[in-house]
Amino acid sequence: MQAVEINGFGAPEVLRLAERPRPVAGAGELLIRVSASGVNRPDVLQRTGNYPVPPGASDIPGLEVAGVIESGDADALAQAGLKIGDRVCALVAGGGYAEWCVAPVGQCLPVPKVLDDVAAASLPETFFTVWSNVFDRGRLQAGETLLVQGGTSGIGVTAIQIAKARGATVIATAGSDEKCAACKALGADHAINYRSQDFVAAVADITGGRGVDVILDMVAGGYVAREVDCLAEDGRLVIIAVQGGVKAEFNAGLVLRRRLTITGSTLRPRPVAFKAAIARSLKEHVWPLLESGAVKPVIHQVFAPTQAAEAHTLMESNRHVGKLVLKWS
Ligand SMILES: NC(=O)c1ccc[n+]([C@@H]2O[C@H](COP(=O)([O-])OP(=O)(O)OC[C@H]3O[C@@H](n4cnc5c(N)ncnc54)[C@H](OP(=O)(O)O)[C@@H]3O)[C@@H](O)[C@H]2O)c1
Repeated sequence: MQAVEINGFGAPEVLRLAERPRPVAGAGELLIRVSASGVNRPDVLQRTGNYPVPPGASDIPGLEVAGVIESGDADALAQAGLKIGDRVCALVAGGGYAEWCVAPVGQCLPVPKVLDDVAAASLPETFFTVWSNVFDRGRLQAGETLLVQGGTSGIGVTAIQIAKARGATVIATAGSDEKCAACKALGADHAINYRSQDFVAAVADITGGRGVDVILDMVAGGYVAREVDCLAEDGRLVIIAVQGGVKAEFNAGLVLRRRLTITGSTLRPRPVAFKAAIARSLKEHVWPLLESGAVKPVIHQVFAPTQAAEAHTLMESNRHVGKLVLKWS
């Protein structure tokens, strides 16, 4: 089969189309004939040597795919209510940039009827991450306020839409006025250009000094102290990336006085059973929002697999709004 492989860590040009053996589904797994593969920032980190492949996972990059079930563990398929020929999208621990991909049955979801495979391939990585961090760890409730850092990232466009659809007030940050407008078009109640405004002052202004209940952070570093300042009583800060550095110094007194929670997680190395539980929650709570159109995939650009390097170059430029996808057929 054709696959995009990482030919030595480095610049986007190390991504190249190569011939690889077709993977074989084992117990509890299925084989997908892939028609589209989502591109995510963790793929860029893997390409540069900053995100090791978990033990047992494919060295081919790519954490999400959509396509048709070609074969698989018959019992597991039946238990999941799936059959050969069904269209699915899947979260995988690697191997997504390829014409065929193996996925645990529990990490597959049916493609919502209203979506094509390109749109479906853009869903799993950000939807699993946002559900797990904003709603499970962050416990965001209807009526509460969420601050999304990086509102136009793949993660951000997902978080804004699901949080709004579930009755939260959403404040998003982004690095330009155009990106702030995009956040608002997706449903954010407020958008802050963090390059021209101090987000701590802006959040205080928007919330009348109360602060926000949950923050989804992909920056960390110097942001943590400022985010602690932004949290309301019993607020929760959920860190999913450290683009701004791993070290932080913050006012621990505020953590006590406001009873704050600082937490975080990384999805890829978690066990299949954990990811399958997220899949069940998504199917119950979020898939109906996709079916109804209340939540929509946001695709910035679709690339041929031969253009994987261009997709990574665009992602590193931060010029995109939403997701980038590779289309195989
Ligand atoms: N923990 C997990 O399980 C997990 C899973 C998936 C992804 N992630 C992480 O989540 C992040 C987003 O992933 P993605 O695939 O959605 O990436 P992406 O689309 O490439 O987005 C990265 C975003 O970071 C924003 N950004 C950079 N510096 C910022 C700052 N100082 N303040 C606010 N925003 C800033 C950029 O927007 P501006 O142009 O507006 O700065 C850009 O939109 C990545 O760091 C990724 O590694 C974590």
